[in-house]
Amino acid sequence: MSHDTTLVNQQRQPLDHLDSVWLFGYGSLIYKTDFPYLQRRPARIHGWQRRFWQGSHDHRGTPEAPGRVATLIEAPDAICAGMAYEVTTDVFEHLDHREKNGYLRFFTEFEWLDRSGSVEGLVYVAGPDNEAYLGPTSEQEIAQHIARSKGPSGPNSEYLLKLAASLRDLQEHDDHVFAIEKHLLELLD
Ligand code: SIN
Repeated sequence: MSHDTTLVNQQRQPLDHLDSVWLFGYGSLIYKTDFPYLQRRPARIHGWQRRFWQGSHDHRGTPEAPGRVATLIEAPDAICAGMAYEVTTDVFEHLDHREKNGYLRFFTEFEWLDRSGSVEGLVYVAGPDNEAYLGPTSEQEIAQHIARSKGPSGPNSEYLLKLAASLRDLQEHDDHVFAIEKHLLELLD
């Protein structure tokens, strides 16, 4: 599958019949809110884990030297915390462009972080069949890769460090993200 998913998302999942949709963000969508939203709430999804296994050709790297960014990997017992936004459906024109480097959007259920209920909404996932996918490697190697990468949206290290800070703000622990952060801080010293 091509790594530009803009058209695929628009064609296979038109949203015009809806007024607003909830969107779950687990990577840069937690801290980089360059889109209007009606409301936002911390949330979590079950059965998925956050992994820095996706290549970035357009934000934190280039096609020649991709960066490493977050995607979700299915894992039956996992829980992934993030931020949910209620947005009007016209906002997906911007979001589909922003997330075009391999991410497809899916409807799934997410639960409010305070456990007060749940809602059905969209999440962008970059699966192993997209051309920009890099796959697993050790957290130390991921940190080394992130330390040397940069792209049009800035240094790859900024993506990781802002995500780690946002998870702390949510009082959430993520072993994978915090292990990469530890190695990265040593490298940036
Ligand atoms: C997300 O944040 O939910 C998707 C991945 C990203 O844009 O970093």
